[in-house]
Amino acid sequence: MKIAQAWLLGTGDLKIMPVARHRNLSKRPLWIIALVALVCVALTGAYVYPPQHRPPCFGCGPREDWYPPVPARIYTDDELAARVVIRDILSMPSIPSKNPKIAFMFLSPGSLPFEKLWEKFFLGHEGRFSIYVHASREKPVHVSPLFIGRDIRSDKVAWGKISMVDAEKRLLANALQDTDNQHFVLLSESCIPLHNFDYVYSYLMETNISFIDCFNDPGPHGVGRYSEHMSPVIEKKDWRKGAQWFSVKRKHAVLILADSLYYTNLKLYCRPGFEGRYCYSDEHYLPTLLHIFDPTGIANWSVTHVDWSEGKWHPKSYKAQDVTFELLKNITSIDMSVHIASNKRKEELKRPCIWNGSKRPCFLFARKFLPETLDSLMNLFSNFTALSE
Ligand SMILES: *[C@@H]1O[C@H](CO)[C@@H](O)[C@H](O)[C@H]1NC(C)=O
Ligand SMILES: *[C@@H]1O[C@H](CO)[C@@H](O)[C@H](O)[C@H]1NC(C)=O
Ligand SMILES: *[C@@H]1O[C@H](CO)[C@@H](O)[C@H](O)[C@H]1NC(C)=O
Ligand SMILES: *[C@@H]1O[C@H](CO)[C@@H](O)[C@H](O)[C@H]1NC(C)=O
Ligand SMILES: *[C@@H]1O[C@H](CO)[C@@H](O)[C@H](O)[C@H]1NC(C)=O
Repeated sequence: MKIAQAWLLGTGDLKIMPVARHRNLSKRPLWIIALVALVCVALTGAYVYPPQHRPPCFGCGPREDWYPPVPARIYTDDELAARVVIRDILSMPSIPSKNPKIAFMFLSPGSLPFEKLWEKFFLGHEGRFSIYVHASREKPVHVSPLFIGRDIRSDKVAWGKISMVDAEKRLLANALQDTDNQHFVLLSESCIPLHNFDYVYSYLMETNISFIDCFNDPGPHGVGRYSEHMSPVIEKKDWRKGAQWFSVKRKHAVLILADSLYYTNLKLYCRPGFEGRYCYSDEHYLPTLLHIFDPTGIANWSVTHVDWSEGKWHPKSYKAQDVTFELLKNITSIDMSVHIASNKRKEELKRPCIWNGSKRPCFLFARKFLPETLDSLMNLFSNFTALSE
């Protein structure tokens, strides 16, 4: 009797149990006795605990306010954990630093051909930047003292595979160790600075948004790379694409390292050759993750310029004869971001580069410059960076 009563007490919360329980009882040999007992219990229960203790339908009883809101679907343990952790990271105030720095993270196969140019960029600004080098193929030979001792423990990187994302995360983890680092810029060995240090520093530090390239490409190289296996963790409508060269605020760097759910999803279902698709995780992981959790916290364009106008598989590589004052002036004056969809009509999505309410030049860095351009760039550097003043 006591047990049965306790069970009935619980029926206010559990709506499926009574039916199952009833069916169980009726299967027993002494089903008549049991049924009578059940009716007695039900009557006693109804008398002792009048119906208002058990709202007749979910959400419309007197205890309506007590119930949590009904989610669109039931999240798995991992999804729920990811959501609460990410929400808390995003809502935490940033820890102020007395000496805020920008972390410049170089992702390269080996030596950096533009070290001397970067040295020109950095000199005189000691204490406001830190350098990290991830060399995936061979140990770099450094020609600038600023880069000596800045190599981090590295691993092999396969183009388009998850090891690329792993290298990005490794750079972030190393750079996050320094609590003065407030902004994190990913650069390649073929990247050059387009402005002087002060300009870059205030551009990145005076905003609270991260510059992550992000757009919805309806074509085969965008949505065409989405796999149904990614659902429900990543819905098709949230699938985004963008160039990997990011520049992120500290809270977004922490978020990227805290996530394993979305990372694992892409590791499994976004890789070259999976289900006959050519999906490259480094082009989708950050745009999709940040689009889901902090869409207004990202600029949707990358501050690193690259020229896709030739419409080839790889962007344009600048040779020595291409590097002129005019070229650099042209790149620095661009104030519209352009995304070209991979659908048949090659639709162009153009938007002005705006943050803090004003239109800005979109780019701080540019690629891909061949090593042979070093001398021309060194000669031109003071001239074109003077434009930023
Ligand atoms: C970012 O800055 C803008 C204006 O500078 C402000 O309105 C917004 O609340 C800030 N966002 C966060 C998350 O701090
Ligand atoms: C980036 O795009 C999202 C929509 O995907 C938008 O909500 C957000 O405001 C955009 N960011 C900026 C800085 O305009
Ligand atoms: C610079 O831009 C102008 C105007 O868009 C164009 O005519 C010219 O060819 C560009 N020069 C270089 C070197 O890219
Ligand atoms: C951006 O806006 C904030 C708050 O309105 C202001 O303090 C800051 O100086 C602005 N930054 C720039 C570069 O305009
Ligand atoms: C750089 O600027 C100086 C002074 O304005 C000028 O004399 C020089 O010719 C310029 N050099 C180049 C390569 O444009």
